[in-house]
Amino acid sequence: MTESRVWSIVETTAFDPVARANPHERLRNLREQCPVLRDEPVKTWMLTRYADVRETVNDRSLWRHWSRSEKGALLRRMDQDPDAPRVDSILSMDEPDHSRVRLPLAKAFYARINAMKPQIEAIIDEVIEGAPADKPFDLIGDLAVPIPILVIAAILGVERDRFREFREWSEASILGLNPLRTPEETERMEWGSAKLSSYFTELMAARRAAPREDLISDLVALQAEGAPLSDEEVRTNLSALLIGGNLTTTDLIGNGVWLLLRHPEQLAALKADPGLAAAAVEEILRYESPVGITNRVISDEREVGGCPMHPHQSVITSLHAANRDPEVFEDPDRFDITRKHVPHVAFGGGGHICIGAPLARIEAKQALVRLFQRFPDLKLAGDEPTWRALPFFRGMEALIVQG
Ligand code: HEM
Repeated sequence: MTESRVWSIVETTAFDPVARANPHERLRNLREQCPVLRDEPVKTWMLTRYADVRETVNDRSLWRHWSRSEKGALLRRMDQDPDAPRVDSILSMDEPDHSRVRLPLAKAFYARINAMKPQIEAIIDEVIEGAPADKPFDLIGDLAVPIPILVIAAILGVERDRFREFREWSEASILGLNPLRTPEETERMEWGSAKLSSYFTELMAARRAAPREDLISDLVALQAEGAPLSDEEVRTNLSALLIGGNLTTTDLIGNGVWLLLRHPEQLAALKADPGLAAAAVEEILRYESPVGITNRVISDEREVGGCPMHPHQSVITSLHAANRDPEVFEDPDRFDITRKHVPHVAFGGGGHICIGAPLARIEAKQALVRLFQRFPDLKLAGDEPTWRALPFFRGMEALIVQG
């Protein structure tokens, strides 16, 4: 039986077992019945129509910093300790600081990705080469988790002999994404973040003394040329690249392989024409995006869909719901890698649009092409996958496949 009522925000996230298995049906209900939802108990609006989501994420006059939102707002409440001293990453900075930090960071990051594209692709090929051909393996743990960590390690300039530790610290600090983490996980996250921060301090000093071809050398060089970036801001944003880029790229690869294996005709089209890989990545981003929402804080009196919104009110924009809005995507619940125009909002928009989007696209495209070249007969070899209980993200705990 199809359930249908006005869901609360939490009931559309992986907090809830039904939405964890499939968030799309409840989001469709909301988009049809209550596209501008005010969820009073958590003091948050949620938008589910593409037009509202697009306009909101693109609006550079809105705020992002959690402390501007009213007390009791869901995202403010979930994982922020208002008393903790902290330097914010670009993710939660407002203007003018956001542009001051993001512009030099983005310039250095994009130049580095361009310079290292062949190396990035070679890292991915090597991980895929390492997967066993003669027995089932876990696509998530064995391939999709190590790929982004090894890639970002190379971009940052992590030394080979520190890779193992770096991976351990990265995996620990990513626990910070989970507002439901246990006290032990919080402790582990804090340990990982502290280790990463002191390692970045060490690397920054080493690269000032002897620059290499890596992002940390690029950033300390920009500082020396006068870019207004403090050491703490560099360290915090290096961690943001790690935390923002790891699980998300893992899930893009994982969700992509799962979708292709469940849609054999789409996989056949991709195998027949690997030139479709870039379009396939966009359709995966639209159809099963790793990040379900982003958020903003209202900065002026306004109306969205006839609903009055006031300064300091918190707004969640559902990227999942927008990406399946039939007003924009024909037959939105059909997975089709041959769609011609896919203006999805999986990376958000406006000033805060995902800084890692070009890297995520390179990694996912290379991973899909090489995986199906190496394992042309790849098939699902386990039970139905379990989706992770991480609210607002969408990815699998494991995906057992056989080459
Ligand atoms: C499939 C992969 C990814 C998805 C779906 C994704 C999604 C997002 C979304 C939705 C936002 C918020 C945008 C907004 O509020 O308008 C964001 C921001 C961000 N992402 Fe990603 N991301 C991905 C990969 C990456 C990678 C690979 C990196 C870094 C290596 C990264 C780093 C960041 C950072 C630092 C921000 C904050 C940008 C800002 O606020 O200025 N992401 N991402």
